[in-house]
Amino acid sequence: MCGIVGVVGNENATDILLQGLEKLEYRGYDSAGIFVTKAGEEPALVKSVGRIADLRDKVGESLAGNRGIGHTRWATHGKPLEENAHPHQSETGRLTLVHNGVIENYAELKEEHLAGHHFKGQTDTEVVVHLIGKFVEEDGLDTLAAFRQALGLIKGSYAFALIDQEEPETIYVAKNKSPLLIGLGQGYNMVCSDAMAMIRETNQYMEIHDQELVVVTKDSVSVQDYAGNVLERESYTAELDLSDIGKGTYPYYMLKEIDEQPSVMRKLISTYADDRGAMTVDPAIVKAVQEADRLYIIAAGTSYHAGFASKQFLEELTDTPVELGIASEWGYGMPLLSQKPLFIFLTQSGETADSRQVLVKVNEMGLPSLTITNVPGSTLSREASHTMLLHAGPEISVASTKAYTAQIATMAFLAKAVGDANGNSKAKDFDLVRELSLVAQSIEATLSDKDMIADKVEKLLLTARNAFYIGRGSNYYVAMEASLKLKEISYIQCEGFAAGELKHGTISLIEDGTPVIALISNNSVLASHARGNVAEVVARGAHVLTIVEEGADKAGDDIITRAVHPYLSSISMVIPTQLIAYYASLQRGLDVDKPRNLAKSVTVE
Ligand code: G6P
Repeated sequence: MCGIVGVVGNENATDILLQGLEKLEYRGYDSAGIFVTKAGEEPALVKSVGRIADLRDKVGESLAGNRGIGHTRWATHGKPLEENAHPHQSETGRLTLVHNGVIENYAELKEEHLAGHHFKGQTDTEVVVHLIGKFVEEDGLDTLAAFRQALGLIKGSYAFALIDQEEPETIYVAKNKSPLLIGLGQGYNMVCSDAMAMIRETNQYMEIHDQELVVVTKDSVSVQDYAGNVLERESYTAELDLSDIGKGTYPYYMLKEIDEQPSVMRKLISTYADDRGAMTVDPAIVKAVQEADRLYIIAAGTSYHAGFASKQFLEELTDTPVELGIASEWGYGMPLLSQKPLFIFLTQSGETADSRQVLVKVNEMGLPSLTITNVPGSTLSREASHTMLLHAGPEISVASTKAYTAQIATMAFLAKAVGDANGNSKAKDFDLVRELSLVAQSIEATLSDKDMIADKVEKLLLTARNAFYIGRGSNYYVAMEASLKLKEISYIQCEGFAAGELKHGTISLIEDGTPVIALISNNSVLASHARGNVAEVVARGAHVLTIVEEGADKAGDDIITRAVHPYLSSISMVIPTQLIAYYASLQRGLDVDKPRNLAKSVTVE
């Protein structure tokens, strides 16, 4: 989703901004722009629709400056056109602003304060910079006071970076609900919405909290509340490695991230278990689960599916009922809760606005919470009572793969740790370290069959317009995730169905050649029912591809995965489906890592 970069005090400002925006490309965007200044020289504002490469071409070689702000935009208000791309400028052009988030009362602000102003586009951001500009240009306030006054009127979510052309040494920033960090350089400073954008320049960062305003110069950072009180803030070292965010020899991040899954499983074993196989999950987290009478997993997208994949083992090992909630629904419609709920926020980014909205409510109610995330220090991690990390390394491809499997594995450590602490007999019999090692081997075996899978995908999906995944038991949840993966990057309309439910309506869509991918695990009753459901669609002309766990396989099956513990089979069964999505997208000539309309980290509700 939208990204912000800014730098003050560095002669390579243009390059730092463009490289920073490139690092943010993975978050999803449709247009971009930069504004670069240098005292005594004409400032430059360059915008373009499309990729950062197009912006780079437009910027050319000669744009020099020592201060600037840049932005990648994911359209909310107004189409992805150049006039809607950020940065935006005030009526006279003196002030320039980039913004992430959504201003809820922009129409009212425009009507009440900005009569007679001329707007180039349709964005809420342009209204904000005109508003600040009005206070400076028409009412005579200094920029800091004008910014503060505007912040007092604005309702919504935002991260802002603001430049006043008449103050060559400063960038003003403020945030509410949208992420923003200060990056500390040697003799210069930066702002960014994601540490990834500036990791080439620094690993020293400073957090900004909601409703704080920061005045950044090349050698100072002043954090203030909206009343102007200066606040102390320590910096921290980001544990990101530049090599983690490279593609290496891979054509796409998605394939690299699929391939990293065995090592992520092993990393989780070494993180959450000791040499003797005992769980090392934070005892405070174990206690929080023990004290709960119900676990509420709140998530969006792929993370929501990982919640479903974890539900059964969480219930059986912790002896606690588990309920799932779609974040965007629960933020505004909390159901009747149990007496002692524990909210678990599953979120790879830790920034999803929908999930955060629920956490804000949970905190208002004084209820305990646990965030399970891949990003230490992310908003949901900071604001929850507890955090468990996924240790999957940065996931750059929009389509989530290793974060999904890491979420299920991390949940398994949590469930096992609680079960062990409670003396649960199923937990005692579940040797998670051994079972997850077998999962890692099963993943490796599937990954060694890539060519065969690519070949089958070409035959099944190259010209397909729609498809179905079907499964029973845990494979129903895998089917949901598998179909999401396929549709998001190949644009094939795909539904994940409980195999037995198909006959209650949806089977009417099956016709000659309709692709149906069936997931069948090593559970004799479910496997035999699933085979029956496969026969039903075959009888109606479906073109079926089977993904079957060893032990349930029969002659003619297409992809066989190595058998693993039933609690963990969602992990091994999803791997072929990740590859199916990858090859379907690749074979259609699409940009696998950057599917249209999607964002990696969705920071608007
Ligand atoms: C976006 C991403 C999905 C992700 C979802 C939730 O829609 O494109 O891949 O599953 O957000 O993100 P989270 O960071 O909360 O897991």
